[in-house]
Amino acid sequence: MAVTINTLREYKQKGEAFSVLTSYDATFAQIVSEAGVDVILIGDSLGMVLQGHDSTLPVTMDQMVYHTSSVATGNRGALIMADMPFMTYGTAEAAMENAAELMRAGAHMVKLEGTDWMKDTIHALSERGVPVCAHLGLTPQFVNKLGGYKVQGRSEKQAELMIEHACELEAAGADVILLECVPSALAARITQAVDAPVIGIGAGADTDGQVLVVHDMLGITTGRKPRFVKNFLAEADSVQGAIEAYVTAVRNRTFPSEEHTFKA
Ligand code: KIV
Repeated sequence: MAVTINTLREYKQKGEAFSVLTSYDATFAQIVSEAGVDVILIGDSLGMVLQGHDSTLPVTMDQMVYHTSSVATGNRGALIMADMPFMTYGTAEAAMENAAELMRAGAHMVKLEGTDWMKDTIHALSERGVPVCAHLGLTPQFVNKLGGYKVQGRSEKQAELMIEHACELEAAGADVILLECVPSALAARITQAVDAPVIGIGAGADTDGQVLVVHDMLGITTGRKPRFVKNFLAEADSVQGAIEAYVTAVRNRTFPSEEHTFKA
């Protein structure tokens, strides 16, 4: 049965963890969805892992539409979430036009990076039938404002602000919250504070779902390996086996373990 936003809500209610992986093409989308991954993310991380840029900022709408439609062709029942690229949702009007393109290409949900300034935009999208994931914490499109790829929400003041933002974005209509590189205790507090399913990356084991970049979890990482990454291919004999092991580890909450998480 196809995964929908209701499936993710049911997982949260039952306390069952769900898995998310990036894919950018039809072949990976088929392998990933057949392995039982619940959500496929067409991340703008493709600007780094496919195109070789040092940030996600150069990724365009046309590129996201192309990759989203490739993923939709290969997908076998996962929920498809597509990233809105840098500065394509600066106003509600721009967001509606660009989100429509991604939905036409096969996305079931769009993901936006930001805080309380996105409330009106999320409300406008949600009211018009576009499910939204709000990405908080380390938001890579803000790398130049953040001064690097750094863990966010380490002080109590920052933590409280992030909890407030998560609640406000949920109230505005966000269906899913994604937390990147935040201390695990803060991620647990946000997961408790909102009814929406919370997906984590570098956010500890207590979120409702986990996401990784597929290249990273297959060990195809150039440069420094982030702390939150585990190479599942190291102990598997095929790509399919590695992805199935990831699904199982997320479901059993054996991934992420202490070594993949951050403290305040
Ligand atoms: O672009 C991406 O792949 C992402 C994940 C790292 C969450 O946003």
